[in-house]
Amino acid sequence: MKLAVKCLMLCPLLTLLVAGAAVQVQAQALNPLANDARAAYAGGALFRAQCATCHGADARGIASIDAPDLTQIWNSRQLTDADVFAAIRDGVPGTIMPPHEYTETELWMLVSYLRSVAQQGVVDLPAGDSSNGQRLFASQCAECHRVGNSGGVLGPDLTSLLVRRNLEDIRGAVRDPDVTIASGYDTVIVQTSSGESIPGVLSNIDAFSVQLVSRQQQLLAFRRQQLTSIEQPDSSLMPAFSAADLSENELLDVLNYIQSISSGVAQ
Ligand code: HEC
Ligand code: HEC
Repeated sequence: MKLAVKCLMLCPLLTLLVAGAAVQVQAQALNPLANDARAAYAGGALFRAQCATCHGADARGIASIDAPDLTQIWNSRQLTDADVFAAIRDGVPGTIMPPHEYTETELWMLVSYLRSVAQQGVVDLPAGDSSNGQRLFASQCAECHRVGNSGGVLGPDLTSLLVRRNLEDIRGAVRDPDVTIASGYDTVIVQTSSGESIPGVLSNIDAFSVQLVSRQQQLLAFRRQQLTSIEQPDSSLMPAFSAADLSENELLDVLNYIQSISSGVAQ
C-alpha cells in the first residue's frame, strides 16, 4: 500500500526523468554541424591528411586492405552520425582502423564531410510515367520482386530500392545482374539423384542439408545425400534486361512507379 502511494508520487517524476535522459542522448546523436558546408569542407582537409591513405582520397575505400567505401556506410550499413563519430574516435579494435584524438568539433567535421560525399540513393530521379511503370513492373518484375504489399520473393524487396542504391547501380543491376549479386541472394543449382536440376536462391547450406527458394518461389529443403551435386555459380538468377527488353525510359517509368509506392508506404 505504502509502495503504491510512493509510486503515485514518484512514478510521474521518474517517467519525466527517463524521458529527459532520452532526449539528451538523442541530442548528442545529432551532428551539431550537420548541413554546414564549411564544416564539411574543413572535414575534407582533415580526411585527406589522416584517412585518405587507407580509405582513398575520394573516401571510396581501398579493397586490397579492406578499408571500406565510406560513401556507402549510411546506406549499406545504415550507420548513424553517432556511430560514425564513435568509429572515428575509438577506431575498430582488432583491425588497422586506429582510434583518433580529435576534438569533438573536428570529429563532427569529419562526419559532415563523409555525409557530403555519401551516396544517398537516387536523389534526382528523372521524371517518368509511373502508370506505365506499374504495368511494366507487373509484367516483368513482380513475379520475383515485391514492391509495397505484393510481388514475389525470389529477389529482394524493391520498396526501398531508391534510398539504398544510386541510379548507376540500379541500372547495372538490371542490365547486367551477374556483376553484383545482392547479399543474401546467391544462386545455387542442385542436382537430385533422380537427375533433376533445380536452380534457386540459396537460403541455407550446412554439412548435411541445403535449402533454396526455387524459381516457383517454394522453399525446398534437401539432405545432401539426396543430391548428386551442389553448384554455387557466380551468376544471378535474375535475367538481364537489355535496352531492347526494357528501354532507358521504361526503366525510369518503373523507378517512378517504385518511388510512388515507397513514398506512399512511408507516410
Ligand atoms: C591505417 C588505415 C586506416 C586509417 C588511417 C583510417 N581508417 Fe577507417 N577503417 C580502416 C579499416 C580497415 C576499417 C574497417 C574495419 C573493420 O574491419 O570493421 C575502417 C573503418 C572505418 C569506419 C567504420 C565503417 C563501418 O562500416 O563501420 C569509419 C567510419 C572510418 N573507418 C573512418 C575513418 C576516418 C574518418 C579516418 C581518418 C580520421 C580513418 N577511418 C582512418 C582503416 C583505416
Ligand atoms: C526471375 C526472377 C526475377 C525477375 C523477373 C526480375 N528480377 Fe530483379 N532480381 C532477382 C534476383 C534473384 C535478384 C538478386 C540477385 C542479384 O542481385 O542479381 C534480383 C536483384 C535485383 C536488383 C538489385 C536489388 C538490390 O537490392 O540490390 C534490382 C534493382 C532488380 N533486381 C530489379 C529488377 C527489375 C526492375 C525487374 C523487372 C524489369 C526485375 N528485377 C526482374 C530476380 C528477378
